[in-house]
Amino acid sequence: MNEKIHFEDWLSAAPKAELHLHLDGTLEAGRLLQLAEKNRVQLPYKSLAEVEAAYRFENLQSFLDLYYLGASVLRDEEDFYHLMMDYLQRCRQNNIVHTEIMIEPQTYLPNGIDFPVFMAGFKRAIVEARSSWGQSVQLILSFLRHLPESEALGVLDQAEAYRDDFVAIGLASSEQGNPPQKFAELYRRARERGYRLTAHAGEEGPPAFIYSALQDLQVERIDHGVRCVEDDALVEWLRERGVPLTVCPLSNVRLCVFPEMAQHNILQLLERGLMVTVNSDDPTYFGGYMNDNFIAMHRALNLNRSQALQLLRNGFEASFLPEAEKTALLKQLDNFAEAA
Ligand code: ADE
Ligand code: ZN
Repeated sequence: MNEKIHFEDWLSAAPKAELHLHLDGTLEAGRLLQLAEKNRVQLPYKSLAEVEAAYRFENLQSFLDLYYLGASVLRDEEDFYHLMMDYLQRCRQNNIVHTEIMIEPQTYLPNGIDFPVFMAGFKRAIVEARSSWGQSVQLILSFLRHLPESEALGVLDQAEAYRDDFVAIGLASSEQGNPPQKFAELYRRARERGYRLTAHAGEEGPPAFIYSALQDLQVERIDHGVRCVEDDALVEWLRERGVPLTVCPLSNVRLCVFPEMAQHNILQLLERGLMVTVNSDDPTYFGGYMNDNFIAMHRALNLNRSQALQLLRNGFEASFLPEAEKTALLKQLDNFAEAA
């Protein structure tokens, strides 16, 4: 028992990289209600208990409906500042020394909120977190795949004024019926403009979507990707090329990709030599931030120290950081592992 507690403290204290995080998925229920009242946005809940009761999802779509509704309470620069700052403080508490955050402009633009408003709030929080505790942050411009590619192309153009603020583009939202190849032109243009590339694939979608993301979009990383196990040749392909998978254990359980944590395949994927990382996806909706994910894996899957170290190492290796910064953070992890 004591040893278990000790290991959980070790997991919590370890330096981490988070590579799969939707900023709108960090909106805390309390702040959601506060902003709905301030901005006069009608929501179907009146109390924290009602919000929490609504967070029982059957699949990705049932979650996305509430997720976009939740994000509709964000209206002015101050709201975006607080959203970012709340999450960055969570990074500090979870020892997430580097984070790559997905920003989804297509959620805000239809409410008449343009790039200068949300980017000003986000950037103010990032500058403060960098200078006050040395937080490392990169942003990913994430597109919504249930919307047409023509709209995404327009948003990519609008983002040109903020080109230096985004390291990569990503692709999220409803996977079923929206295969990666729908966005081949978007990815071609983003690649030409020097963005790094990632996309959600193989969360609910079949292995064919993972192939399509790799071949049609030429992504370097796959977000989720857990359904790759249905195709041995694909697993081998991913292993040979060292393609990172940004896996989100608590998310997969809450969205019924796996019936319970004990059945999650993350350690199987690791065992088969894949470059797997641990992430929280939408922590306020799925019942936990980064440390909660590691602890849940320890409790249900018996995650041990050497597996945890490999997952932590992979997080830094698979990041979009320049090599020198990766090396420095990997050294920080080595020092932690030697000392504790
Ligand atoms: N947007 C936010 N969370 C997501 C997820 N888990 N899958 C697809 N799109 C998302
Ligand atoms: Zn996601």
